[in-house]
Amino acid sequence: MSDLEALREKYLAQIRAAEDEAAIEKVRIAALGKKGEISRRMRTLGKMSPEERRTVGAALNALRDEIDAAIRARREALADAALAKRLEEEWFDVTLPARPRPQGTVHPVSQVTEEIVAIFAELGFSVAEGPQIESDWYNFDALNIPPHHPARQEFDTFYMHRAEGDDRPPHVLRTHTSPVQIRAMEAHGAPIRIIAPGRVYRSDYDQTHTPMFHQVEGLAIDRDVSMANLKWTLEEFCRAFFEVDHVELRFRASHFPFTEPSAEVDIRCSWQGRQLKVGEGEDWMEILGSGMVHPAVLKAGGIDPEEWQGFAFGLGIDRLAMLKYGIPDLRSFFESDLRWLRHYGFAALDIPTLHGGLGR
Ligand code: DAH
Repeated sequence: MSDLEALREKYLAQIRAAEDEAAIEKVRIAALGKKGEISRRMRTLGKMSPEERRTVGAALNALRDEIDAAIRARREALADAALAKRLEEEWFDVTLPARPRPQGTVHPVSQVTEEIVAIFAELGFSVAEGPQIESDWYNFDALNIPPHHPARQEFDTFYMHRAEGDDRPPHVLRTHTSPVQIRAMEAHGAPIRIIAPGRVYRSDYDQTHTPMFHQVEGLAIDRDVSMANLKWTLEEFCRAFFEVDHVELRFRASHFPFTEPSAEVDIRCSWQGRQLKVGEGEDWMEILGSGMVHPAVLKAGGIDPEEWQGFAFGLGIDRLAMLKYGIPDLRSFFESDLRWLRHYGFAALDIPTLHGGLGR
């Protein structure tokens, strides 16, 4: 075997054996690099006779080209193999659901609000809204609470700032959802049947009070509405909300400036351990305030009290959520603790309906 033939076989074998880019580069340098074996041979051509140079030169050129081509081919084959391997390893199934378990949950306040809206929608009430920063007139005066009325003190109101020298009464963070009664009367007149869920604010903080909480206001005005309609409506609501066939409500005479007569409503219940049972037992729990809309309030809303009458009620959403789902501390509602939300939260898209079931 000629000398060049030995070189050829040596390098072709090395090229075939090279398993990666680094190995192949090593062979290239050893054979074709500046100081490579074949390059060195080529530099010796100068010392040869013209005859020898012609044959050896042609053979060396052919060998260099062959090895160069073999290196390129091996490189390509290695790259193809690497790509094929990657494709095999990195495949994924695009038909899998994007998130096997949804991470977010619906906050109990949102859930209970939806439950309340679903129940009253069924009773023919639509949803009304009003601003959380409210004028002093809507929050108080229009509800028959004039300036210096003692009820203003009871509310622990947050007042907004007014510029120096501006002595109009300051706006307030609404202390209840009752101002939406006035706004709804102004917007729609009578007859009307609305509920108004939303945030309200009072400067108060303990296990059952937070500076922001949620209420639902109810208002029904027609020509012939009585306390009996109020009682029936609230009983229907409680039966549906607590998902029991039997509820017993107790109307206790009370006083609110915006209703006459006024009643606070208690529900019969029992506590076993921490478990609340509604409709049985010896305890009564207050759940809402209500009454017949005061004529002065109808007037403030632009409705003639000689022609129309109505009932109204206001209940605390957070309170109802605590009762229905056994949540002991109101403050935890607003701490955004993910563990709490996972524990008490509701599955997304689990939308409450009367026929589908309201709660869990
Ligand atoms: N606005 C009252 C409060 O926040 C609740 C209330 C009582 C609303 C009686 C009413 C009502 O509509 O008739 O304490």
